[in-house]
Amino acid sequence: MKKIIEVKALKKVFGKGERQVNAVKGISFDIYEGEIFGFLGPNGAGKTTSLRMIVGLLRPDSGEVKILGENPHKSGNKLKEILGIIPQNPTFYEDLTVEENLWFLAKIYNIPKMIAKERINSLISRIGLEEKKKAITKDLSGGQKRRLNLILALVHDPKIILCDEPTPGLDPQSRIVVWEFIRNLPKQGKTVILTTHYMEEADRLSNRVAIIDNGEILVLDTPENLKTSIGEGDLVEIEVSHLGDTEIESLPGYLLALDPPLHLEEVSTSQSVCTIRALDVVPKLTRILASIENQGFSVNNLSIRGTTLEDVFINLTGRRLRS
Ligand SMILES: Nc1ncnc2c1ncn2[C@@H]1O[C@H](COP(=O)(O)OP(=O)(O)OP(=O)(O)O)[C@@H](O)[C@H]1O
Ligand SMILES: [Mg+2]
Repeated sequence: MKKIIEVKALKKVFGKGERQVNAVKGISFDIYEGEIFGFLGPNGAGKTTSLRMIVGLLRPDSGEVKILGENPHKSGNKLKEILGIIPQNPTFYEDLTVEENLWFLAKIYNIPKMIAKERINSLISRIGLEEKKKAITKDLSGGQKRRLNLILALVHDPKIILCDEPTPGLDPQSRIVVWEFIRNLPKQGKTVILTTHYMEEADRLSNRVAIIDNGEILVLDTPENLKTSIGEGDLVEIEVSHLGDTEIESLPGYLLALDPPLHLEEVSTSQSVCTIRALDVVPKLTRILASIENQGFSVNNLSIRGTTLEDVFINLTGRRLRS
């Protein structure tokens, strides 16, 4: 696989003295042609700062970026043609229509009329904005503005697309349209870097995910590998209420010691919830529930789910992604 972006020991400090923020603390990674690379982290983790340094909009304090072998801070306009930057805050001309905003960019990039027409129509249709083609953009809804923001960066048909938080504020249906749109980009030969604080988004879209927190990359791997790294199997969360004298804290020891064994990977409790991680858990459920009731608890609720990237984040930091 061809390396398309190389990032080495990139660092950025904002402010001085008491106001100093170590926004990015020396991150390194490579991005390969045709992949979707996700940056997953909470607010203030350093995602936008990293993206801005990668594309040459912000000068790093130290470290190095190479895009197709070129330093974006020294390459002048050369890289602009191949980069498509989708900023976190929608940016366009509010008094122009959807179509006019796209045509405006087509003209700036000197795209021949026939090609521009076809591309603009295809982008509008793929992002589901046909009905709003002739609407003045200041009258669009927040979600429609966000979708327009996304396609504006693609008018010049860039090879590498950097997308800073594609879906905040989108309803579930629009979110799926945007996910499909992004997922299809590699099929058109494009490489995508996206930032998000939605674990589901990072999981569904990315070939590889870097989890970033406090300016540092904590882990970088495929979503599958990240999820299995904290233990195999599904999670069962059982909410119980106390009937007898037995403390809920005794449940893990009891369930793990049952004979014949249930082969549970992990059992823990927190307040009134007993969480069990186990492989092939469904056939074990009857015995698990009977055993819990035997100990004098009644089961109020039960859910089974796979491991998520949120679990990975909690495992690494002790905090949830969104507090
Ligand atoms: N121009 C700036 N001047 C001072 N501090 C800044 C500046 N830009 C970013 N920061 C700080 O750097 C840290 C990282 O910010 P950044 O915008 O990169 O986070 P983020 O991961 O993109 O967060 P979000 O999910 O909220 O977009 C934050 O503490 C932020 O306040
Ligand atoms: Mg940001």
